[in-house]
Amino acid sequence: MTITMPDIKTLRIGVLCGGHSPERPGSIASGEAASKALAEAGLTTELIDMADTPLSSLRDRIDVALLGLHGLGGEDGKIQGALDTLGIPYTGSGVMASAIGMHKPTFKTLLTRDSLDTPRWVMRHPKVSVESTISSVRLTLGFPVFVKPSSGGGSLSAGIAHDANELRVLLTPADGEPYAEFMIEEYVQGIPCTVGLIEMEGRLRTLPVHDVHTDRAFYDYRAKHDPAQRTEHCPSILPTPTTESMQYMARRVHQILGAHGVLRVDFMVGPNNRTVILEANTLPGLSTRGNLATMARAGGIAYPDLIQHIVRTAFTKPGYLP
Ligand SMILES: Nc1ncnc2c1ncn2[C@@H]1O[C@H](COP(=O)(O)OP(=O)(O)OP(=O)(O)O)[C@@H](O)[C@H]1O
Ligand SMILES: [Mg+2]
Repeated sequence: MTITMPDIKTLRIGVLCGGHSPERPGSIASGEAASKALAEAGLTTELIDMADTPLSSLRDRIDVALLGLHGLGGEDGKIQGALDTLGIPYTGSGVMASAIGMHKPTFKTLLTRDSLDTPRWVMRHPKVSVESTISSVRLTLGFPVFVKPSSGGGSLSAGIAHDANELRVLLTPADGEPYAEFMIEEYVQGIPCTVGLIEMEGRLRTLPVHDVHTDRAFYDYRAKHDPAQRTEHCPSILPTPTTESMQYMARRVHQILGAHGVLRVDFMVGPNNRTVILEANTLPGLSTRGNLATMARAGGIAYPDLIQHIVRTAFTKPGYLP
């Protein structure tokens, strides 16, 4: 049920960030940037680190939650379910879209059902031995392959394996790592791109495509956090048919997921402009120099406006979805 849109000047906006996810540093950056922009616009806002905040305390403390959380526990439907139960409106997708977006193999299964291109993949279930997974990879994909946790983010615990030995290393989680399930994908050599979508005044806006070039082996954690390790363009310098195709696919992903409010869909553009979908981020990063803010600026939306539009989407969910 759509909630009546209040005047955001009357709201106590809780910017939720941090928590215990491996993506905590990025989440703190998102939360700090968004709450600063809201405060500078004269709105009532509070930055709340979920690592030391009991959920139930939010009920009397805030009127709406702007989610600056990323990764497990924040982007996977759990906090969304808790906020639904507490009756607190929140930004971003609901429980189902968040959970599906977080679990890459489930998301990719939906893509293939709708004939959208995504790298072929093999699962490494925690109860299946590494050796039998390696055999499946040899038979179905061959080498090289790209390995990542099924529910990871920020390029953490991901990498390229050129042979069985490298694959064995990547499939052996480090001590204390939360990820047990991995996926091994067909390796697509190419240019990482992303497309942002934002609902504004009842309309889904598709933002200009953002592309990245790096001399590192892939767009890894270091390339994402050190600007000297990458060159980026927004709008993308790729051919228009390629960028338009990604924008179309991003909108399809939004529909297929049942996403809401804001979404960022990541792609690789490979040989012959083959455009594959890697994943969808239901709570994209909100830092001022991050991809979403960069795409918004290229689309004529200044950062403070972007954040206020996102807050408003907490009140525009069209109807019930799990
Ligand atoms: N199948 C693949 N083949 C080649 N490179 C890949 C593949 N999958 C991922 N990569 C590389 O890893 C990067 C991160 O991939 P992906 O977006 O799937 O992971 P993530 O950790 O969820 O990222 P995010 O920071 O957006 O949360 C890509 O930009 C690309 O450089
Ligand atoms: Mg990504």
